[in-house]
Amino acid sequence: MRVIFVYNPRVDGMSEVSNQKYYITTPIYYVNDIPHIGHAYTTIAADMLARFKRLDGYDVFFLTGTDEHGQKVEKAAREAGVTPQDFVDKVSQDFRNLYPILDASPDIFIRTTESRHIHAAQALWRHLEERGYIYKSVYAGWYAVRDEAFYAENELIEGKAPSGASVEWVEEPSYFFRLSAWQEPLLKFYKDNPDFIGPASRRNEVIRFVEGGLNDLSISRSTFTWGIPVPGAENHIMYVWLDALTNYITALGYPDDFSAASHLSPHPSQQFWANALHLVGKDILRFHAIYWPAFLMAAGLNPPKRVFAHGWWTNCGEKISKSLKNTIDPAKLIARYGSDQVRYFLMREVPFGQDGDFSEAALIGRINSDLANDFGNLAQRVLSFIQKNAGAAVPQPDPFTEEDEALFKVAHQMIDKLRTCADEQSLSKMCETIWAVVGEANRYIDAQEPWTLKKTDQRRMNTVLYVLAEVLRYLGILSCPIIPKAAAKLLDQLSVPQDQRTIAALAHHKLVPETKLPAPQGLFPRIQTEATT
Ligand code: MSP
Repeated sequence: MRVIFVYNPRVDGMSEVSNQKYYITTPIYYVNDIPHIGHAYTTIAADMLARFKRLDGYDVFFLTGTDEHGQKVEKAAREAGVTPQDFVDKVSQDFRNLYPILDASPDIFIRTTESRHIHAAQALWRHLEERGYIYKSVYAGWYAVRDEAFYAENELIEGKAPSGASVEWVEEPSYFFRLSAWQEPLLKFYKDNPDFIGPASRRNEVIRFVEGGLNDLSISRSTFTWGIPVPGAENHIMYVWLDALTNYITALGYPDDFSAASHLSPHPSQQFWANALHLVGKDILRFHAIYWPAFLMAAGLNPPKRVFAHGWWTNCGEKISKSLKNTIDPAKLIARYGSDQVRYFLMREVPFGQDGDFSEAALIGRINSDLANDFGNLAQRVLSFIQKNAGAAVPQPDPFTEEDEALFKVAHQMIDKLRTCADEQSLSKMCETIWAVVGEANRYIDAQEPWTLKKTDQRRMNTVLYVLAEVLRYLGILSCPIIPKAAAKLLDQLSVPQDQRTIAALAHHKLVPETKLPAPQGLFPRIQTEATT
């Protein structure tokens, strides 16, 4: 049963949401290696959406964390010559350290080795067992440690997994989940919930896969020990994906708090769950869009609201891999270019959902054109003009002209456009929406020529500067989710109070004439390259 929310009508006609829940998750990352660009990408995307929804008055719960069990992690620990526990403690911390660097704002960082998670995963197992969806048999088939996935013979391509990972033959006693029983219910679920999988092209792939038939899934391993013990069969550990996927409900208090709710008096965790969005890479969509809803429905729980699969980055046209020595360290990139710059590039460069190609030249291009020339320059022109020619304070406007109102209108229209894009996870479109207004404001300043008005009509000059400062306030508030540092700096320079940095405040407040403004500072330094020096 989904929880229905009531939208609070808004005084000025804009729909304001109050107290509505929004739950957003990244995949929990394997701790076999240091963080790379793929981890940074999903985390920044989730952070951008979490920040946008907070800005829009939602009660947001943003979850990320580390996936610490399984053969891959056990193998990495062995190679490092330490115990799995010591190994995961160290690498998990490397991931945790990345969040401030990315300027990401998760509410919870979960680890699958925590006791509350072990409790939750075992509870889910018991529910599946009680409801008759688990049976014991023997698994004999292929397994790819890199993907932590089982593959049927007919899925292999030239003796490898479709992902290119090496496979090994595994034969061991195993518990199975009756996935085959969920083929029809899943197809019905996809039909009844057309927005469950995004983008639409991925949804079709998943549906085709499920239509092709589902085999029962091996959900325990008995030939190694680094995992969560199967309740009542301690010589088996749970398959790492069943363990890992459970993290999304562990964080909401499953099983204790989660099932304490009814739809009449929903527990907050149920309200978050009814609004859950999982962001994942395209390679792990199958686990999230097929296995996960099947596990949940089999346990008598609702699937999440939506799963969105993003594409993969290549590096200068090449697949990123350790063996090619072309991995991209997000921390190094940010140390060189800045977190706002890297966040903006990753979100703007490629439509979210499609594959993209990374190159430093493209990153520098975006920094110099979109950030320094377009946005930074607009702010600098307006604020330094006010500083020099309008008494370093918000100018007093006269009644607005049609041109002024037209610019206010496009600024205001950003709000609903951004809301729609956020709900479709169209993240690059969110950037485009804001930069379209940056462009309009730059055209307005060129057309209005405040530098000429300074000599001919100072009152009109003040009005033009007020309009531009107001539009900068819109741009500052609405760009917070993408470029939080620069946006805060801009809002400081406009003397916007901290408690007025929300979408609701855009309509309820305006810049107050005569408010003192501090001396402006550039938002985005240009990057000098050999070609530009
Ligand atoms: N532990 C699992 C997820 C469990 S969620 C219940 C896992 N971890 S991972 O660390 O291997 O992968 C994390 C994410 O990184 C995946 O979403 C994957 O798509 C993403 N990426 C890995 N390389 C990538 C690129 N080159 N580009 C973009 N994303 C990439 O899978």
